[in-house]
Amino acid sequence: MHDPIEIAKNIYWIGVNDYETDLFEAQWPLPEGVSYNSYLITGDKMVLIDTVKKTHLSQYVEKIRKLAGDGGTIDYLVINHMEPDHSGAIPIMKQLFPEMNIVGNKKTIDLVKEFYGITAGVTTITDGDELDLGSHRLRFVLTPMVHWPETMMTYERSSRVLFAGDAFGSFKALDGGIFDDEIDRSRYDDEILRYFSNIVGKYSPMVQKALVKLKGTDIRVVASTHGPVWRTSPEYIIGKYDIWSRYIAETGAVVAYASMYGNTLKMAEAVSRGLSLGGIKEIRMYDVARTHPSSIIRDAWRYKGIVLGSCTYEMGLFPAMRNLVELLQEKGLKDRVLGIFGSFAWTGGAVKNLRSFTEKSGWRLIEPVIEAKCAADGHQLDECVRLGNSMAKALSA
Ligand code: FEO
Repeated sequence: MHDPIEIAKNIYWIGVNDYETDLFEAQWPLPEGVSYNSYLITGDKMVLIDTVKKTHLSQYVEKIRKLAGDGGTIDYLVINHMEPDHSGAIPIMKQLFPEMNIVGNKKTIDLVKEFYGITAGVTTITDGDELDLGSHRLRFVLTPMVHWPETMMTYERSSRVLFAGDAFGSFKALDGGIFDDEIDRSRYDDEILRYFSNIVGKYSPMVQKALVKLKGTDIRVVASTHGPVWRTSPEYIIGKYDIWSRYIAETGAVVAYASMYGNTLKMAEAVSRGLSLGGIKEIRMYDVARTHPSSIIRDAWRYKGIVLGSCTYEMGLFPAMRNLVELLQEKGLKDRVLGIFGSFAWTGGAVKNLRSFTEKSGWRLIEPVIEAKCAADGHQLDECVRLGNSMAKALSA
């Protein structure tokens, strides 16, 4: 999208879409791209809110020039977040607009120096400080660890726009529409949750603290650094973040399995059948070897029930399952019910490791735990159905 788009009076979206980067943070797939949202406040002062990844400079500068005019100046750059997908353009911005003052909290200003060697022309603000721009007034709200220690939000008082940093963001580029009322939201919902669960979810307690701080603030527009701008239903995305960061789940289950020759898959199918017989309709079966863990983590965040089944590989978990289990542990997802099962051919290991994960996760283990040698027999498959059924009861309770 080549033109700046006004999101409130004299405030413009000047973000860019990135369809070329395959992996966000070099690890999370971007099948539908991602947007880096930056904003420009015009009026008495020209103020940039965050920048974009350095790979998308030309389009970005073009939009700034359209608003500032050739030879125009930028007075301030407010930095809500220093991760380079937003800060990468800072050195070039500073070269193009040497008079531009960089505004951030102490941690931000330290990172500006450490990433880019910039120490002059900076202003350090603290929590609750305000910046009077004449036609606009900004209030800074420090929200550490949503997603990095320096992250903050900036609230524009006259238009009631919240520039939220990474919070309330999404994977997926903006295909023409940028506002929540211009898009088919159902096409974004999965990517909004995959973004939350993999990027921000680990810091859920800090999201809760941020939401408490924002309570009572009249927010008309939520302008994140990624994804749609929420001008019609900002309460939708704020509400979702509240639910997800309190680990509240929907009724349903993820059945993630690792199977080399189909025997563990057979057990997984029996568990899923048990879930279905128990009345659960939302069942998501995932082969961990063929599904990126970010999608499984997304649905683990969405649903209350998680069943993990693995064959044994080199006396432990199958590698893709080990990776998933480590990621789940790292993300700190809480308050789930767990079922486990597995198989081995000549020596065990998978189920033992899943038991160890159970203890670390703090999730409620649903019985029975099934461990089959080579291939589950009829009784063991019945037990898998029973596991699914018991989980269904736990989910419906
Ligand atoms: Fe979009 Fe934490 O960077």
